This record gives sequence, C-alpha cells and structure tokens, in this order.
Amino acid sequence: MDQLTRLSTASIPFIDLAAQRRRLGRSIDDAIARVLDHCQFILGPEVSALESELAAFCGARHAVTCASGTDALLLVLMAKGIGSGDAVICPSFTFTATAEVVALVGATPVFADVEEETLNLDVQSLQRACAVARRLGLRPKVVIPVDLFGQPADYKRIASVAESEKLFVLDDAAQAFGATYGNRRLGAVATATATSFFPSKPLGCYGDGGAVFTDDAELAKVMCSLRVHGEGRDKYECVRIGLNGRLDTLQAAVLIEKLKIFPDEIAARERIARRYSAGLADVVKVPTVMESLASVWAQYTIRLACGRRDALAAALRRQGIPTAVYYPIPLHCQQIYREFPVAEGGAPVSERLAEEVISLPMHAYLDEDTQDRIIEAVRHSLGA
Ligand SMILES: Cc1ncc(COP(=O)(O)O)c(C=O)c1O
Repeated sequence: MDQLTRLSTASIPFIDLAAQRRRLGRSIDDAIARVLDHCQFILGPEVSALESELAAFCGARHAVTCASGTDALLLVLMAKGIGSGDAVICPSFTFTATAEVVALVGATPVFADVEEETLNLDVQSLQRACAVARRLGLRPKVVIPVDLFGQPADYKRIASVAESEKLFVLDDAAQAFGATYGNRRLGAVATATATSFFPSKPLGCYGDGGAVFTDDAELAKVMCSLRVHGEGRDKYECVRIGLNGRLDTLQAAVLIEKLKIFPDEIAARERIARRYSAGLADVVKVPTVMESLASVWAQYTIRLACGRRDALAAALRRQGIPTAVYYPIPLHCQQIYREFPVAEGGAPVSERLAEEVISLPMHAYLDEDTQDRIIEAVRHSLGA
C-alpha cells in the first residue's frame, strides 16, 4: 500500500472529542482539580455559576441544570403536572426521549409528521394530531417541537397553533443549544426549552447532563425542587414526588470551560456545513435551513433516493469514513409506541426520511483536507 492510499483509508472520527480536548488542554484539568479540592460534588459552586452563564448566553431568565436531556424534558412535564388523560404532541422523526418522557408521566404521546424540507414538526400535522387527541377523549396540553440536527423548528407558526389549541410549548433543543431563531438563541424562544449536554452534542460534557431554560420563575423554582427529590425548605422536607436529577459539579466545571470556546465552535460548524453543501449539493439532497435561522449543525445529514444509502455507507466505511443513520425507525413505527395515536394522514414524511437520511462526520475540528476527502469519497461512490 503506497503512502497516498494509506492516508486515504485512515479512519476519520465521526465526532472528534479528542481534538477539542487537545484545544482545551490544562483549562479542563485545572477546572476538575478545583472541584476535587473543594469536594462539593453535589450542587457545588460551579453548578450555579454555570446556570448563570448559560442563562446569559441564551438570554433566558432562568437556567436549571439537571442530570440529562431526558430529565430536562421530564422535569418540565412533571412541573406542569402533565399526566393521565393529557395528550402531548411530538414529531415522529426524533430520538425516543422526546416521547418516552410523555409516557413516563402517564400521559399519551400523539405523533405528528415532519416537514419534507426542514425535517422539523409540520404544523398542519400538529393541528391534525390535536384533533385526533380530542376525538379520543384526551386533553391536548403540550407540544414538544424538536430542533432536529441543530435547526430550530418553526416557532412562529407553532406559537399560533399553540395559542389557538392552548398548548404549552416545550422546545426539545437537545441537539440545538447555541442555534438562533431570528435574533434570539434557543432557550429564549419557547416557554420552556430542554437541552442535553451528552458528550456528542454541540455543547457536551464528559458524561450525562442537561438543562431547562425558561423566563417563568415559578416553573424554575418547582424544577429546582423536583431535581432534588421534590425537596421543600431542605431535602428532608418532601413537598412533591421528584427525582434525583442533578447535574454533577464536575460536569458543570467541564461545561464552564467548554462554554468559553462554544461561540467559536458554532462558527466553525457553520463554515464546515457550508463547505459540505457547496461540495455536495449537485449530487445529493443537502440540508435546507430556513431563512432567518441559524442551525448549530449537531449533524450534517444528506438524503439519497431510497435504496442507495446502504451502498454509500458501505463504500465510505471501506475508506475509513464513518456515517450514521438518525433515525432508521420513526417513533410511531417502533414496537413500544404502536399503541399511541398518530395524526390523521399518518406520518409518511417521517417514514420516507427514515429510508433516505445519512449523516456525515461533523464537528468543529474537521479540517479542510479531511472534509475534502469525505466530499470526494461521497461523490465518487455516487458516480459523480
Ligand atoms: C432530540 C433529543 N431529545 C432528547 C434527548 C435526550 O438527551 P440525553 O441523552 O441527554 O438524555 C436526545 C439525546 O440524544 C435527543 O437527541
């Protein structure tokens, strides 16, 4: 094997956390060492410092950190008292956590379809989902739009449906913290916004973590209680059924350091996404970003006509280029969700997307030579 061939088959990471780690260097080590020194591992000073910084970053009045993105969604539903007989509308083309939390609180997830272009919640399907819920004797209470792959959902149109249907809007921004809608960052757009700090997310920690953002002081107060077993004046006074749902101090310390470089990483992601689109738009369907929005590009996801995806994935794998399929099965087709209702007309776009999408390596440290190698490999495999 000559030098060039060896180079061109060297494995590329899908997300390069090690490159970010090298950039952060001692700052992370020092931040962790400070926690090891003060030993306040649970709700230590870094947790409230991070909450202030996150709230300032996105423009929300309150940030309540918690143990994961799943808990962030759950805390909001619990705080709003959502339960049996309530319907919560979720897009079908998303990660299971969006709907899982609804079933966990005893409410009914009702699945709506997504839009062909943006892959985000289709507002007409949202209306049809509310109608189906009502016909089944359920009370539509909440809609959970998902900002899929980093792109904000269409909050203006969702807000007008939410107003007429009297729905609480809970933004599932697990993949999109850092993205902007008009001139606002997510966190300051919906009434409540949940995000995840899972390591591979645009802003990730070194384990599990999450946060909820809201301007509603009462909601924030209730969630602070819920994340500590429903504590009252202290944790030995129990005023509600809660969770052990706190963010570790160590993870908060890591996130404080990562937040410092986050704006720069967001800019790098945007640059890389534009390069992908410039190199691939003539051979595959590249992502469409709505006007006046900025995606944070958690994933760069292309679409291929049904049946061509597996061959592309195999060809790229042979050249050391990993790919991923988010999501191969829409939620309404998953065995565990089959008992739950779907908007009238079904979710045909979600079903088609599940056959067509494939995500390419995407992170802020993808250098141009490596990206060119990926673009060339995709073009070559598709015979372009
Ligand atoms: C859309 C969506 N919602 C919720 C979650 C749950 O986040 P976590 O893994 O931090 O619990 C994820 C995580 O991948 C997600 O992608």
